[in-house]
Amino acid sequence: MPSEDPAWTALRRQAAACTRCPLYLGATQTVFGEGPVTARLVLIGEQPGDQEDRQGRPFVGPAGRLLGQALAEARIDRADLYLTNVVKHFKWTEADSRRLHAKPTRREVGACRLWLEAELRLIAPAAVLALGATAAQSLLGPSFRITRSRGAIMSTSWAPVFAATRHPSAILRALSPDRERFYRELVEDLRNIRARLPPERVSSPAAAGGARISTPENHE
Ligand code: URA
Repeated sequence: MPSEDPAWTALRRQAAACTRCPLYLGATQTVFGEGPVTARLVLIGEQPGDQEDRQGRPFVGPAGRLLGQALAEARIDRADLYLTNVVKHFKWTEADSRRLHAKPTRREVGACRLWLEAELRLIAPAAVLALGATAAQSLLGPSFRITRSRGAIMSTSWAPVFAATRHPSAILRALSPDRERFYRELVEDLRNIRARLPPERVSSPAAAGGARISTPENHE
């Protein structure tokens, strides 16, 4: 769902022409974040995948479907979130005529960081959930470990409520029974962060249209 905020639209347009690192050469397009700029919660992934690169939208491939299922279980409406990635271009290598995800380097993450910072400044979310180590480390530093600190709620300069959880792609890659456990933990982390969201912003256009993220205060 595209935002209609003029500052966001300008930012998206600038990012669409980004050549700050070579990744734009192999990608179809910049995949910018999407969602209302009034969102209280921002979810940050690593980088667009094959489907995202083709469609120009974050989390519309297999990882996005798993995330959608977890969001539904946590009673969070995707339309109320701002979803974005640390890196805005798909990085891939070819194998058997398929484009396979390749991990972005620290340099590529660094080159893209100004877009993420600009998104976070504009939205000023109450809560941020980083999906996976690349997103968490880009905002918290390279020593952050999902294995050690997954789900821990922190207060950061990015948002008063900040947590990191496993990336949905890592859950899809895991074998049973880890896969089921990892999925339950993702839902648990989403529920925990939802429980810490403040009530919908009263001055926002979204608030005028009615609250859609179910918080314990207004739903249970
Ligand atoms: N993985 C990500 O990190 N982001 C997407 O948008 C899709 C898959």
